[in-house]
Amino acid sequence: MKADIGLIGLAVMGENLVMNMESKGFTVAVYNRTTSKVQNFVEGRAKGKNIIGTYSLEELVANLKKPRRVMMMVKAGAAVDALIDTLIPLLEEGDILIDGGNSHFPDTIRRTQYVESKGLLYVGTGVSGGEEGALKGPSMMPGGSPAAWPHVKDVFQAICAKVEDGSPCCEWVGENGAGHFVKMVHNGIEYGDMQLICEAYQLMRDGLGMTADEMHEVFKAWNETELDSYLIEITRDILAYKDTDGEPIVNKILDTAGQKGTGKWTGIAALDEGVPLTLIGEAVFARCLSAMKAERVEAAKVFPKADTKIDCDRAAFIEDIRKALYASKIISYAQGYTLMRAAAKTYGWNLNYGGIALMWRGGCIIRSVFLGKIKEAYDKDPELQNLLLDPYFGETVKGLVPAWRNVVAEAVKHGIPMPAFSSALSYFDGYTTEKLPQNLLQAQRDYFGAHTYERLDAPRGEFFHTNWTGHGGSTSASTYTA
Ligand code: 2AM
Repeated sequence: MKADIGLIGLAVMGENLVMNMESKGFTVAVYNRTTSKVQNFVEGRAKGKNIIGTYSLEELVANLKKPRRVMMMVKAGAAVDALIDTLIPLLEEGDILIDGGNSHFPDTIRRTQYVESKGLLYVGTGVSGGEEGALKGPSMMPGGSPAAWPHVKDVFQAICAKVEDGSPCCEWVGENGAGHFVKMVHNGIEYGDMQLICEAYQLMRDGLGMTADEMHEVFKAWNETELDSYLIEITRDILAYKDTDGEPIVNKILDTAGQKGTGKWTGIAALDEGVPLTLIGEAVFARCLSAMKAERVEAAKVFPKADTKIDCDRAAFIEDIRKALYASKIISYAQGYTLMRAAAKTYGWNLNYGGIALMWRGGCIIRSVFLGKIKEAYDKDPELQNLLLDPYFGETVKGLVPAWRNVVAEAVKHGIPMPAFSSALSYFDGYTTEKLPQNLLQAQRDYFGAHTYERLDAPRGEFFHTNWTGHGGSTSASTYTA
């Protein structure tokens, strides 16, 4: 019997995806560079299942139904390119190569074009949800050759997560690198969501002097509100988890964060697109700052904090923190969606924004009830420029603003760092300000570089230059931008 799909790369994610596919009725042929892993797998977890172990790429390909579907779950980077080059001569026109790894979207753009030039079809898909998601139902974000989608849809939508009404958390995202781009933004938003939760935690810990057990109760209650989400849920559980000596284990964990780079990629993409993705940017930098532990310890001695305790009605302030978190989260998603809209324009992708919210609704790390509301907003208006302009989110944010300002103000007064809460509020205040001070900035640019400016009392697109010093001449520098 031939297999429905082939999978290369039997690390945890690969193995779990194979088990997931098999459990949904697909026969899967598997291969791994270190072939002992194939043997261990077929004699272990895969024993008695419709899983065919193969020991060369030729054997893998020979075991596949046509058109062949070959999914690569190997280390992102050069390994994917090498594998593609080895596989192309073994495959035929119309066969489909799928990269399910964490590839950077420009690589997927390039690879789609390359593989298509060889007569094959290419899919670069984001797969989110970690090891458990891969096994039980990940969120999947496929992009690549549109003609490939009808050939992979059945497998992808069978293995992916489903929301309550049974809708699959997998839809076609768009051409070439669109799937990996959306997965990257997902990871950036994940950075933001995590940082927001950490700031709420720090406010409660340092500002209100709360214990882990008390905070556990707060997160438990929050998970019954609009904040209901996987990350709030695991935070609730983490805070209750005790070390062998009965102490909350979270209190013993070193406060230096690691990162693998997808948040950084999202920030770079935002800078490239000129999109103010401030919250995710701050979330990335907050990890960087946390990593400077030794320096922080020294600096804390030089600048000892005055009392960080916030004098307030505790229950009321906790509710304010919840509202500040919710408002900031709306800003983060508004910014993330703005980035996707800008990239769609740059790269010619026809993104389905409601569908993206649905893909993130289940299976992945940022899954939440809140994403259902984003889907509704984009279903109502697929061209929605900014989530804040959706009536539901607009009204919601209006109601949250007083609490949000109170929390940021108290944090500032007491020296508790709130990069994500406060940058979200600054973005909100900037976005909702008709007149920003960049009239002065344009004057400065024109003063020192003759970069010209537009005027409030002249039509847009008409540029003026002032001879500010009387001896700079009246030649403008409109032909270059510095
Ligand atoms: P390995 O078991 O032979 O190391 C995650 O690292 C997965 O990617 C593993 O299955 C690993 O195979 C595979 N992998 C890493 N680099 C590879 C390469 N250059 N070619 C093929 N597979 C590779």
